[in-house]
Amino acid sequence: MSDKQPNLSNAKKVFIKTYGCQMNVYDSDRMTDALAPHGYTPTSEMGEADLVLLNTCHIREKAAEKVYSELGRIRDFRNERAPGAKKMLIGVAGCVAQAEGEEIMARAPAVDLVFGPQSYHRLPELLSKAQTGRVIDTDFPEEDKFAHLPAAKKEVTISRGLTAFLTVQEGCDKFCSFCVVPYTRGAEVSRPVAQVLAEARGLADAGVREITLLGQNVNAYHGLDENGRPVSLGALCHMLAEIDGIERIRYTTSHPRDMDDELIAAHRDLPQLMPYLHLPVQSGSDAILKSMNRRHTAAEYYEIIDRIRTARPDMALSGDFIVGFPGETDADFQATVDMVAKIGYASAFSFKYSTRPGTPGAQMDDQIEEHVKAERLEILQAEITRQSQQFNAGCVGMTLPVLIEKPGRNPGQVAGRSPYLQAVHISAEKDLIGQILPVEIIGQAKNSLEGRIVTADRIAV
Ligand code: 5AD
Ligand code: SF4
Repeated sequence: MSDKQPNLSNAKKVFIKTYGCQMNVYDSDRMTDALAPHGYTPTSEMGEADLVLLNTCHIREKAAEKVYSELGRIRDFRNERAPGAKKMLIGVAGCVAQAEGEEIMARAPAVDLVFGPQSYHRLPELLSKAQTGRVIDTDFPEEDKFAHLPAAKKEVTISRGLTAFLTVQEGCDKFCSFCVVPYTRGAEVSRPVAQVLAEARGLADAGVREITLLGQNVNAYHGLDENGRPVSLGALCHMLAEIDGIERIRYTTSHPRDMDDELIAAHRDLPQLMPYLHLPVQSGSDAILKSMNRRHTAAEYYEIIDRIRTARPDMALSGDFIVGFPGETDADFQATVDMVAKIGYASAFSFKYSTRPGTPGAQMDDQIEEHVKAERLEILQAEITRQSQQFNAGCVGMTLPVLIEKPGRNPGQVAGRSPYLQAVHISAEKDLIGQILPVEIIGQAKNSLEGRIVTADRIAV
C-alpha cells in the first residue's frame, strides 16, 4: 500500500436496500451523499456493512409487509455474526417508517433507528444518537431538507451514469381516497427554481444527459424563482433545456388535473422534453373516479389526452390503474378496460386495490373480494400487455434517436432508451456510450426493442 493512500481504518460501510418508487431511489442516493462526509461508503454486501438502511414503501400492503420480513432476516444475520464482529446498526427510512414508526419499534426490537422521508438531512445526527439508544424521528420539520442535504461529489455522480433523477416536488394535497402519500410524504412542496437548476447543472457537469424530474404530483410544481414568483413545470422545463449537456428531460408522476396549457405547449415546443407521459387515471368509471376523489371525469381525461396528442402527436402514454376499488361493479371495471382500449397505452401499470389504514377507502363499504380483484387484474393486464406490444411493433422499421446508456447483456452489445422510454439493445461497441444516435428498430422482444445504428454521426433529437 502506498503511503499516499488515505487511512481507511475509520471508514465505514452503508448498505441501503430500496423499495418502491423512483423517489426512493433518489432519496437513497441522497442518504448516501449525506453519509459520505461522515466516512461512510456504500456497499452492496450486507455482510460488510456497519449500517444497514431499508428505504421503504407503504403504497400497498405487500410492500409494507416485505419490510418486516426483511427486518427479521437482517436481525438473524446480525445475531449469527461471530462474537466480537463489528457492530451493525439497523435503520428503517421511507414511507413505512413515517406511517408505522412506533409499530416498527415495537415489532422489530433489532431496529436501532427509524426516520421518515423529511428527516434525511438529519441522518448523521440521528446515527450518533443511535449509538447510545434507539431513535425515532418522524417529524415534518420546518427547515428545507433539500437545502441541508449535501450534493454528491462529481466522481460519485459520474459513477451513477448518464441518466439521473431529480426531485423537484414532494408530497401531495390531492387526498385520493385510496392513497397514503399525503400522510407519508406530507403536504405538497416545490423546491425553489434556483435549487433545482443548480442541481441540474451539477448533474450535467458530471456528464448526465437525461434527467427525470420527480414528484408525487410533479406537474403541480410551482417552485419560486428569485423574484418570489411561482414557476410552472412547463416553464421549468424550458429553463432546464438551456443547460448545456441536458439533452433529454422527463418527469413523473402527474395528475390529470394539473396538465396545464404551458406544460402541454412545452411538449410541442421543446425537443428536449421526451414524448412519453405517465398520466395515471386509476379508473375509467365516473362513479369510481368520484369515490376515489380524483376530481375529474373520464370525459375530462379523454379531453386532456386529445389536447396532449394535438400538441405532440407521437406522445407515448403510460398510466396507473387500480382494480377492485370498493364498490367497483362489473360495469365500472369494463369502463376501465374500455378506456385502456380507447386510449392505446405504450405501457401501463395496474394494481389490485390494497386497503391502507388511515385512508378513507379503508372505511368504505362494499370492499371487493380478493378473487374478483385477481380476475379483473388478469383481464386488464392482458389488455395492457397487448397494447404495449402493439406499440412496440409499431416502432419496428422506424429510426429513433437512442441514448446509448450502458454495455448490453452480451459482449459486443450496448443498451439504451428510445424517446418513448423503450429499452433498445444494439450490437455496437462500448465507445458509443453517452451518445444519442439514430437507430433503426429491427425487432421486438417481450419488453424491449432490437436496433441497428444507422450512422455513428450525432443527431439532434
Ligand atoms: N392500492 C392499490 N394501488 C394503489 N396505488 C396507490 N395507492 C394504492 C392502493 N391503496 C397505485 C396508484 C398509484 C400508484 C403509484 O400506486 O395506481 O398511481
Ligand atoms: Fe396519491 Fe397521487 Fe392521489 Fe396524491 S395524486 S393522493 S400521490 S394517487
